[in-house]
Formats: sequence, C-alpha cells, structure tokens
Amino acid sequence: MSLMSKTAAFTGLDALRNLVSDSMAIDMGSEATIIVVRGRGVMVDEPSLVAVSTSTGEVLAIGLEAQQMYGREARDVTVIAPLLDGVVADFERTKVMLAHFVRQARSGISHFSRRAIMSVLSGITQVEQRALLNAAERAGIGRVCMIENGLAAALGAGVKIDDTRASAVVDIGGSTTSVAIVANGAMVHARTERIGSRDIDAAIIDHVRRHRGLAIGEQTAERLKLELVSATLPDNLAQEITIKGRDILTSSPGALEITAGEVYPVAHEVVRKIVEIISMTLAELPAEVAGDIYDRGIILTGGGAQLSGLDNYVRDQTRLPVRIADEPRYAIVRGLEQTFAEPLWLRRVIRCGPDHLLDFERDASALET
Ligand SMILES: Nc1ncnc2c1ncn2[C@@H]1O[C@H](COP(=O)(O)OP(=O)(O)OP(=O)(O)O)[C@@H](O)[C@H]1O
Ligand SMILES: [Mg+2]
Repeated sequence: MSLMSKTAAFTGLDALRNLVSDSMAIDMGSEATIIVVRGRGVMVDEPSLVAVSTSTGEVLAIGLEAQQMYGREARDVTVIAPLLDGVVADFERTKVMLAHFVRQARSGISHFSRRAIMSVLSGITQVEQRALLNAAERAGIGRVCMIENGLAAALGAGVKIDDTRASAVVDIGGSTTSVAIVANGAMVHARTERIGSRDIDAAIIDHVRRHRGLAIGEQTAERLKLELVSATLPDNLAQEITIKGRDILTSSPGALEITAGEVYPVAHEVVRKIVEIISMTLAELPAEVAGDIYDRGIILTGGGAQLSGLDNYVRDQTRLPVRIADEPRYAIVRGLEQTFAEPLWLRRVIRCGPDHLLDFERDASALET
C-alpha cells in the first residue's frame, strides 16, 4: 500500500468512526426498549408500551408510565404493545414511542449527533424493515443503520468479530426466539420463530382460566412465572403461591393456591417448543460449523434465558455446553454498542436507510483504496 492510499485509508477510517461517534444503540424489543448512548451507558430500559385514549386516540403515557396503567386501565384508556412479535404492528404508535425514548436518551446532551444503530429480527421482510427505518427516521434520528439481532447478540455475549470459528447464540425474548450461528463476524445461519417467554405467561393464563376457573391478568401470570416456573422438574412440586383475579363462574373477585407441580407441565410445553427450534436449527448446519458448535456449545441471551433451569434443560436436550451471557437482557444493545468501536465492521453487517446506504458505501470504499 502506498503512502497516499494509506492516508486515504486512515481518512476513511476516521470518517467512518465519526459516523458513529456520539451514537445511540437501540434494541427495540416487543417487551422492552433499551437505549445505550455511547459513553453514557444505558439511558433507557422501559417496557415497549403505549397508553392510548380510546375516545380521541391521543397517546397518554409511554413506557413505565403506561405499564403502571396496564391491566387497570381507566374506562377510556387502552394500553398497547405496538411491537408485539418484534415487528412494527402499529406504525404510528411505534414512531411516537421511539421518538419519546430517543428524546429521553438524549436528555441533557447538547450537540448530540443523531445517529443510531438498531437491531432487527433476522428474516424480517423488506416492508417491515422499511417500516422500522421510517419509524426511526421520523422519530428524529438523522441516520439509522440496522444489524441483525443475532449478530448483535453474539458480539454482546463476547463473540469476537474476527473469530474464524462458529458460535451459536440463542436469544429468547418476550415474543421471539432467534438462533444465530456466527463466524468471521457474519451470520452463517439463522432462524427466528415467533415464540418467546411471554408465551409461557399466556399458557398459564389459559390453564388457570380453563382448569381452575379464574381469570388472571398478565402481571399476575408473569409473577407466577418468575416465582414458580422452572424449565426442569422443580425440586419442590408442592411449593405454592396465591394468585388473585376474577372467578369465571361467579364473576366476583377470587383467589386460589397454585403449585409448582401444576404449572410445570403448562410452561414445559412452551419451553419444549423453544428448545425444538434450537435443535432443528443445529440439525441444519454444515459439518465444519457443527463441529465448532460441538466444542463451543450454545450461548443464551435475552430475558427469557433467565427462566430458572433453562440452561440446564437446553444442556440436557442438546448435549452441548450451554452458558447464559452476562446481563442477558442487555446482550443485544451491548453488541450494538461495540460496533461503534469497530468501524470496519460496519460495512459488512449494517443495513441503512436507502439514502444513507450510499454514504456508508462511499465512506467504506475509501478504506479499500
Ligand atoms: N428472571 C426471569 N425469569 C424468567 N423470565 C424472565 C426473567 N427475566 C425476564 N424474563 C422474561 O423475559 C422476557 C423479556 O425478554 P427481553 O427483554 O429479552 O424481550 P424483548 O427483547 O423485548 O422481546 P423480543 O426480543 O421478543 O422482541 C419477558 O417475557 C420476561 O418475563
Ligand atoms: Mg429482544
């Protein structure tokens, strides 16, 4: 490389690095939106919920504030999860929610350049991708680029960008499970299914209604999951907690005791399906890649990975080493954050808005001269 082209390369590198300085990393999940601002840490970690007036359509509250209303909404209020299933199900509300969180993340920062890296589900359609980009751009972020969830989760879980051997990362979110096989900083294989930890809550609500005659809310089901559910057979099947709701027969307020033994098979049905997705994906791998995974095993990320005993259950079923990433809920956003420090990587993994793609390609091509 001549001196001239070396200089060009450095200029290009700087240009690329500047593109992502003072940036935001955004993991907009169906359950929670997490935003890290470079150099400032986690600035937003709130439920992806919006409270809306049913009469006027006006947005009344967002995030934690909306969650406080959830399940106990006033007569003319409805609380919605605009990203249910990980894509933009409700475009207008997604935009409003994202704009709110971005403002919150930027609070107190002057001269903040509005650039963001967002994660998206592998396999989302072009239309869904454009909807997300539009939402982000209309939320007041000047430049938005996207990386597949699986790659971000792998980076955040400690997989190195230049690692030539393959790693398997499974992100279990509220409503999605993504299996990503990553090598050389790129996705080798990926599968995303619309099933997640929230499906355990739904199965519990359904079971308690049908078999015990009590209607319970989502928050009660979530508490039950956290306190009583285990992916492996619980040590103490008789452990019980009291749950309250509305008696289906009498329509009056009611309560009952429920044991770990009763909810285990209900939750297990969902856990079994999630692990089936992992096994199916591993069965599709090329031989060399499978060999790498045999040595290295599986890394679990996402809030759902924290279900009691899940790592042990996945280990039993796959007969592979399994570990849960540190702070599994933050794995994706930490991975996004790392790309700020790896400008060369941007070129390979990031998709940007149509206008911006050109900028990135121009800046990146300066690196190759
Ligand atoms: N300690 C825990 N035990 C069991 N489940 C947990 C625990 N902590 C969080 N969860 C579950 O994790 C889920 C949320 O995970 P996460 O925050 O990764 O979702 P998300 O990224 O918003 O969703 P998605 O990626 O599907 O869009 C919730 O269903 C929650 O109940
Ligand atoms: Mg997620």
